[in-house]
Amino acid sequence: MRIVVTGRQGQVVSALLERGPAAGVEIVALGRPELDLTDAASIRAAVSAARPDAIVSAAAYTAVDKAESEPDLAFAVNAEGPGALAAVAAELGVPIVHLSTDYVFSGEKTAPYVESDPTGPVSVYGRSKLEGERRVAEAQPNHAILRTAWVYSPFGANFLKTMLRLGETRDAVNVVADQHGTPTSALDIADAAIAVARRLAADPDPSLRGTFHLTGSGEATWADFAEAIFAEREARTGKRVTVGRIGTADYPTPARRPANSRLSGETLGRVYGLVLPDWRQSTKAVLDRLL
Ligand SMILES: NC(=O)c1ccc[n+]([C@@H]2O[C@H](COP(=O)([O-])OP(=O)(O)OC[C@H]3O[C@@H](n4cnc5c(N)ncnc54)[C@H](OP(=O)(O)O)[C@@H]3O)[C@@H](O)[C@H]2O)c1
Repeated sequence: MRIVVTGRQGQVVSALLERGPAAGVEIVALGRPELDLTDAASIRAAVSAARPDAIVSAAAYTAVDKAESEPDLAFAVNAEGPGALAAVAAELGVPIVHLSTDYVFSGEKTAPYVESDPTGPVSVYGRSKLEGERRVAEAQPNHAILRTAWVYSPFGANFLKTMLRLGETRDAVNVVADQHGTPTSALDIADAAIAVARRLAADPDPSLRGTFHLTGSGEATWADFAEAIFAEREARTGKRVTVGRIGTADYPTPARRPANSRLSGETLGRVYGLVLPDWRQSTKAVLDRLL
């Protein structure tokens, strides 16, 4: 099976390139300049030439704060691009797995979000990703939209790597402790995305299509995540970094973030039998590689 994935050096595309061979899947990564999500013609040409059996739409404009001042580019990459990609998937008769985000929700719910909860993004990034979901679903009914959150990995830029970098020069770091979610390893996302793509390509069951939540098991705040990272680091290096637990109000950013980013994975578990490992376990596995 050959899966085309959008992007070249992103966290999820890198994880797919690493995990594909062991799963018996050929991963073809298509990114700029060959495939630019702001250029529908490049999407059609590059994807058609690669002759995929399934497509994973992993590339995105992920600079959440910068998106507030670049809404047109965010919508071009996160909404129009995936819509054009899904249209190509429909033309080729192949399924598309599209990655989306917890930021489609407002964060006001007090329990974990389920797929049928009303959306209400509070940022440009969230609105652009929600519009991407709508366009993918409209263009190719044979889809699975996987909403994930708080992605980290050995690749690219992410919170875990930022904490390791800060810990090189500081003894204490202040981290937001009033946003709740679940850190999710891109390697776990890759395994799940391959499993979902494989099922979609082989099984016409309508229950496999639609929107699903895909995050690590368990829950945390950003401060909890930082403490877990520094505890693992201390166990290996002896160097201690303490975490100051601050509020969102103490760390102003251009984009608002949901206070509650917890996504229930119950549907994916029931329909696909996929449950991601506990976030602490996967964090340790990533740190095993980085430290
Ligand atoms: N990161 C998170 O915390 C998070 C949370 C929830 C959901 N998600 C979603 O999960 C998916 C994967 O995220 P990630 O963390 O892997 O993202 P990432 O590491 O920021 O990578 C983004 C990828 O998108 C590519 N890209 C950006 N603009 C493009 C364009 N115009 N044309 C083609 N490719 C373009 C980048 O290309 P280059 O390789 O050329 O740089 C890169 O490969 C995204 O859909 C994201 O919205 C992420």
